[in-house]
Amino acid sequence: MKKINIAIDGPSGVGKSSISNRLANRNHMIHLDTGAMYRCVALASLRNQISLENEKALLDLLDSINISFDKEKVFLNGEDVTLAIKENNISNFTSKVATLPIVREKMVALQQKATSAKNFIVDGRDIGTTVLPNAEVKIFLTASAKARAERRYNEYLEKGIESDYETIYQDIVARDYQDSHRKISPLKKAEDAIEIDTSDLSIDEVEEVVQDMIDKAL
Ligand code: DC
Repeated sequence: MKKINIAIDGPSGVGKSSISNRLANRNHMIHLDTGAMYRCVALASLRNQISLENEKALLDLLDSINISFDKEKVFLNGEDVTLAIKENNISNFTSKVATLPIVREKMVALQQKATSAKNFIVDGRDIGTTVLPNAEVKIFLTASAKARAERRYNEYLEKGIESDYETIYQDIVARDYQDSHRKISPLKKAEDAIEIDTSDLSIDEVEEVVQDMIDKAL
């Protein structure tokens, strides 16, 4: 069977992780959630009280942490941090941490090494442009900030988590701005990526569109 890599980029809350998980299971591929990697760096630097201005301390931290995945769980130095890295304060801090060149350099190198044997579905912001410019399938998922905020709000509602729609919406807008205006590897569609606007599509419909592209590439 031909081995390929798939790059899935797009803004926060567009459903990259869910789609990537489904497609990885369906096609016997491995899902690499690069956002989770940046989130782990943010969590580790907060816990170790490392100032983002202190490059030396940050480099030491980057050399000392181990990020691993097992099914849908994320481990930081062996500890299950799947839920901890999704906290709202970590999401906001990660967006800052992800602007730092030394952090991006290290993460991109790890991601390229991990996926060199192919058979990966990698989701993030700079996968099609920087991490895997030669990926066989490149997708750029979009959805209006309103559609994404509504989805997140309904998700919280279903889980019984109290939340405020306006705060969720403003957080999404702020993170979009930060992710697409940073100097290095901003959120950007690769020229050869296929853009899918998911605002009015269900997750099943998005999955089928991407699956068709995978089938063609295989
Ligand atoms: O995909 P996510 O929401 O878990 O990403 C968390 C943060 O990390 C978000 O602010 C964007 C950043 N990120 C990035 O800069 N590059 C990536 N490849 C993945 C995520």
